[in-house]
Amino acid sequence: MACQRMNKCHCHNVEFTTVAQYSKNTGVEDFDVLCDRVGLGQTCTACRCDLADYLNDQRRSVTESSLVSIPALKPIQSEA
Ligand code: FES
Repeated sequence: MACQRMNKCHCHNVEFTTVAQYSKNTGVEDFDVLCDRVGLGQTCTACRCDLADYLNDQRRSVTESSLVSIPALKPIQSEA
């Protein structure tokens, strides 16, 4: 089933950004645990596909941005 492009759980009125922030603050990454703890995706479940995509995109962008921000190493200058 294709995702619908939702940005929140309408049944529980929870924005996906809230779930991402909770995950970041607590370190919880298991999808079912996140849904259970934040309290969404439990009724009609229509938001779960889009939430999974959203969280994957968030994690990918964090990984990519952390790779970009690693400074280049300078070669060690020998004093000989
Ligand atoms: S929209 Fe999330 S459970 Fe219905």
